[in-house]
Amino acid sequence: MTILILGSGGREHTIAWKLAQSPKCEKLFVAPGNSGTAEVAENVNIKVTDFEAIRTLVQEQKIDMVVVGPEDPLVQGIHDFFLNDESLKDVAVIGPQRAAAELEGSKEFAKEFLFRHNIPTAAYQSFNSGNVEEGYAFLETLKPPYVLKADGLAAGKGVVILDDLNEAKAELKAMLIDAKFGAASTKVVIEEFLDGIELSCFVLTDGKNYKILPTAKDYKRIGEGDTGLNTGGMGAISPVPFADEEFMSKIKERIVIPTIKGFEKDNLPYKGFVFIGLIKVGNDPFVIEYNVRLGDPETEVVLPRLKNDLVEVFEAVANQTLDTIKIEIDERAATTVMLVSGGYPEAYEKGKEISGIGTIEDSIAFHAGAILKDGKTITSGGRVMAITSYGETYMEAIKKSYQNIEKLHFDKMNYRKDIGFDL
Ligand code: AMP
Ligand code: GLY
Repeated sequence: MTILILGSGGREHTIAWKLAQSPKCEKLFVAPGNSGTAEVAENVNIKVTDFEAIRTLVQEQKIDMVVVGPEDPLVQGIHDFFLNDESLKDVAVIGPQRAAAELEGSKEFAKEFLFRHNIPTAAYQSFNSGNVEEGYAFLETLKPPYVLKADGLAAGKGVVILDDLNEAKAELKAMLIDAKFGAASTKVVIEEFLDGIELSCFVLTDGKNYKILPTAKDYKRIGEGDTGLNTGGMGAISPVPFADEEFMSKIKERIVIPTIKGFEKDNLPYKGFVFIGLIKVGNDPFVIEYNVRLGDPETEVVLPRLKNDLVEVFEAVANQTLDTIKIEIDERAATTVMLVSGGYPEAYEKGKEISGIGTIEDSIAFHAGAILKDGKTITSGGRVMAITSYGETYMEAIKKSYQNIEKLHFDKMNYRKDIGFDL
């Protein structure tokens, strides 16, 4: 099989690493890829949203399957683009069609879906520039903190949580009237605040059948003790120790099953990963958000624990025979620590040479914002590299990640030294 992965982060390096292990994978391309994917696949310099260039590549290389990493091409309808093109319609695309990708593309759409299918989530109302005053009035009925969410995709920055009512009103105005997040905040969802501990549940579905993959917890803030600005994710662990059998069965019955049935009932064509962001309030799970792809850096701990041949699993997704697959999970824990450029998530420098990668033992370096230049691996983004390790416990695994990080270096390298601290 010839396979193309779209994306260039740690998530895509991990998917490439996993697919490349399959005897069924004859040729693997990644567009645009990074220095890590270059080790296991051929990088092609094409943007993930350049559908015309992707079509040409798929035709020229006779690609059989396209695995979509990030949300943008899905929300822009790449799966539909393939289905509507005579020469591409038989290519398997792993990722939902546009109608279903709206679950990530619009917070309001996701909330309506959750309520329609009685899936536990925070109470909410949504507002636009025509009813800002009603938005202020709704905020007055809520207790702080106030949760405001730009409806559309805002590169992970569209959620603002504020303690002060006046600040919350000012934020609502900034989003709706001053277009703080551009078109993404023409609508704003205001939600009840849920107080609890977060985790993520990953589900793979073919639209009819589903498989629950390992849970993971990511660490979003830049600073130790979960302080400072939000990032794309600074580290992750899997499994989540507090997601015991009883809690997982609540997730399955109350959330996963109604979600998959909801896709069918609402005619949302879905062949791909569902990333369910959850919060545990007391002993009950609530949905915070849906993402229509795998998480990053959660992928760097979830896929290493999957024992199956991932090509076989994806074929079953494409053929709607996922019920015939038995998912096998490595009992060991996996952890990952993200190395980031100094300054990230604010301004940072790029082009720093990364040294020590060859000395890593008993961990895996998944490259993210790193590229090859003149035979050297240099930084090209804020999140640079995720160091994943296995262990009998997550503590043992995290120790290995930190031991290997000691051997890695680039100018102004930064990372969190407390991944797993809260467990
Ligand atoms: P999202 O982009 O929807 O994942 O939201 C970003 C972060 O905001 C989440 O990871 C949570 O930490 C927080 N958050 C979102 N919605 C709520 C809520 N209703 N109650 C408490 N925290 C929330
Ligand atoms: N780590 C969170 C995300 O991928 O959205």
